[in-house]
Amino acid sequence: SVELSLRPSTLAQYIGQTKAKKNLAIFIEAAKLRHEPLDHVLLYGPPGLGKTTMASIIANEMEVQFRTTSGPAIERAGDLAAILSSLEAGDVLFIDEIHRLPRAVEEILYPAMEDFCLDIVIGSGSTARSVRLDLPPFTLVGATTRAGLLTAPLRDRFGVLSRLEYYEIDDLREIVERTATIFDVAIARDAALEIARRSRGTPRIANRLLKRVRDISQVKGEKAISLGTTQEALTMLQVDQTGLDHIDHKLLLAIIDSFQGGPVGLDTLAATIGEESQTIEDVYEPYLLQIGFIQRTPRGRIVTPKAYEHFQREIPNR
Ligand code: ADE
Repeated sequence: SVELSLRPSTLAQYIGQTKAKKNLAIFIEAAKLRHEPLDHVLLYGPPGLGKTTMASIIANEMEVQFRTTSGPAIERAGDLAAILSSLEAGDVLFIDEIHRLPRAVEEILYPAMEDFCLDIVIGSGSTARSVRLDLPPFTLVGATTRAGLLTAPLRDRFGVLSRLEYYEIDDLREIVERTATIFDVAIARDAALEIARRSRGTPRIANRLLKRVRDISQVKGEKAISLGTTQEALTMLQVDQTGLDHIDHKLLLAIIDSFQGGPVGLDTLAATIGEESQTIEDVYEPYLLQIGFIQRTPRGRIVTPKAYEHFQREIPNR
């Protein structure tokens, strides 16, 4: 499908994340030279930056199968044992949201990662005994929003820690142009740049905005997506000049209007705007911190003068 082909399948096709790509390319090449599986990799960073894509590229570059699951999908130790014992030598097992693995499941993972073996208990009570099963060597690729969400023993078992960063505008512009090519639609350079500027450093957002802009452009009968149509579409979608959306606005304006600019605790803020604390922390806050619109203090979140300026509000005298 077109959706699937949006994902680059090689490191060479992957735009941006220069540092992560460069490191991974070396580790992959070395593992291949030694005819060994790649060491376990932890990919971390805000949602939408391409962690799953990077994991599938690792499998593709290593020329092995890509198997995928997620932390919340694995409920019991037996579920993970079944997945691990079905792996073939060298396979990449991708576990998304790996910080959400239940504790009992996580403990199965330690000997599997370290010694490629499975410790299982057969029977119960006085007849219970533990058997050790060998597993094929494999590469675990875990993904999480923050490395700090993992328990120390799990984090310590990854040989490669790779942080994905928010994308540069020009990388996002290139991604928008690449996606437009895959959609078989022409887009003016300034229009692609406008989408890039308003995508919060995030390819997933850039590609989603491109789809909606394409809809409007197509209905208008344009030959190529223009800057004017792009601006019109983004206004319709309530995406502002900086790329902030309705929820970012609600969050910032709540701190400004209900808490005099802060500090306010995460849970209080979440209750005020009716969003989950976790969603605010993982999805909204990281970008607002990155662009310097909010700051974390020991007493809670505060908005900065830059955020007041954005809304053309007077900075209160404190
Ligand atoms: N599509 C989404 N993210 C991408 C990336 N980083 N490189 C190329 N195409 C992409």
